[in-house]
Amino acid sequence: MIFGRVKPIDAILATAEKKSLHRTLGWFQLTLFGIGCVIGTGIFVLTAAGAQKAGPGLMLAFAIAGAVCIVAALCYAEIAAMLPVAGSAYTYTYTTMGEMLAWTVGWALVLEYAVAASAVAVGWSGFFTGTILNEFLGVHLPAALSGAPLSMGGVAGGIINLPAVVISLLITWLLMIGTTESARVNAVLVAIKVVALTAFIGITLTSAYFDPDKFNPFLPAGVFGGFGTGVGAVGAAATIFFAYVGFDAVSTAAEETKNPQRNVPIGLVGSLLFCTVFYIAVAAGAIGTMGGQPIMGPNGVPFPTGSEELARQCATYAADKLPLVCSNEALAHVLRQIGWSGVGNAVGLAAMLALPSVILILMFGQTRIFFVMSRDGLLPEVLSRVHPKWKTPHIVTAATGIAVAIAAAVLPVGKLADIANAGTLYAFMMVAIAVMILRKTAADRARSFKTPILWLLGPLTIFGCIFLFFNLPIDAMLVLPIWGAVGMVIYFAYSRNASHLGRGIVESHEAEAVTDVRPEVPGTH
Ligand code: ALA
Repeated sequence: MIFGRVKPIDAILATAEKKSLHRTLGWFQLTLFGIGCVIGTGIFVLTAAGAQKAGPGLMLAFAIAGAVCIVAALCYAEIAAMLPVAGSAYTYTYTTMGEMLAWTVGWALVLEYAVAASAVAVGWSGFFTGTILNEFLGVHLPAALSGAPLSMGGVAGGIINLPAVVISLLITWLLMIGTTESARVNAVLVAIKVVALTAFIGITLTSAYFDPDKFNPFLPAGVFGGFGTGVGAVGAAATIFFAYVGFDAVSTAAEETKNPQRNVPIGLVGSLLFCTVFYIAVAAGAIGTMGGQPIMGPNGVPFPTGSEELARQCATYAADKLPLVCSNEALAHVLRQIGWSGVGNAVGLAAMLALPSVILILMFGQTRIFFVMSRDGLLPEVLSRVHPKWKTPHIVTAATGIAVAIAAAVLPVGKLADIANAGTLYAFMMVAIAVMILRKTAADRARSFKTPILWLLGPLTIFGCIFLFFNLPIDAMLVLPIWGAVGMVIYFAYSRNASHLGRGIVESHEAEAVTDVRPEVPGTH
């Protein structure tokens, strides 16, 4: 077998049978759940970074990233409905391409979930500091406590992003004691986000400040900004891909869905299409009113986001003259600039209320991946210990939370998002490959949802992921192989020998993995 140790699919399906959750979700709940996971820092904050990379071409960037996510989502849906078990892309790879590649996927998912949680925490911090402290309370947090160090692309005088640390640790604690978000809370938060974005779109597109000339030039950095630069419309697409991350959580709810063949694709594609249209309209409103041309470097290429040079340029503007591309709370800032301060503050408040639930879902996903890897023996068993009273994997949750808080403390949001995207794109690509392999190796197995025209959508997903990956800035691109190399050292030094599959223990641990901890995905019940 070319892939080495491959986990038998029967062992995985035995787990799924034991889990047997009721099928209660319909397409509407799934769509709501999807929107709840997806809308977050990407649109509320990274709109600024996207404009710095592409100018008005940001609108095109949202369309490109949305298209890649929609095809990836259709692949995810088939495998998630077929193998409804914890561990998502890691487990799918284990049963199709073997342990070593599964390890690399599990390791890369740390970037997707933990680093993305840090990015959302930093996004939250921008709104907390800007809207709650500055606007509502008139308190100005010293720069030393409100941003990453300048040397890392943060703010002048920044040492630590304290609000981001506090929110990360708070959510960690909630997860440790077993808090999960109810579907009702999710629905309320979705409503808050959608109302905030709708108000933004309505106000900006009808504003007297709206001027079609602001879309000129439409592609100031071109479509392709050049390998490794991360700029241009596709560079921006690689960054604001982050605004769609999280939809894979919908696929993890596939097994709890009524009539999944119909409802899963409606829920997945529906929530992604909805977000794509919304995001393009938001970008049009922001750029049409405030303008969104990048700040160019001496060579006519936009300064990289999260760079010291850009931070220095931004520091030369007075707070009330700050260009869109410099703002930490992009959407609220636009509204304040065009005379709608009250609504701007309300949008800031909405983001502040809604973003913690995105952090919660991402951190939940991370702890469950580590948990399953630990139960498979690839990570130390202590990580899968379950707290007797809280019934949560408290040790792995605490460890994850501390790591999330440290990254959030010292890195700017754009960098974190790019790193998270690198890991996510790798995982999505592996899922598309796994779906195609299973069509061959497990052709007769029941599938409650089948990806339409997989022969086309599978390769398209793989191509889309590779394409976006190679349009990330070079430093984010390099994180994946470096992180992967560290992972390989751990795999060969520890995990390979400790692996349960390698030692002949195949089934029981996987079964327990999902039956003795709270299994529900937050926001679905
Ligand atoms: N898509 C999520 C966000 O934008 C991760 O915050």
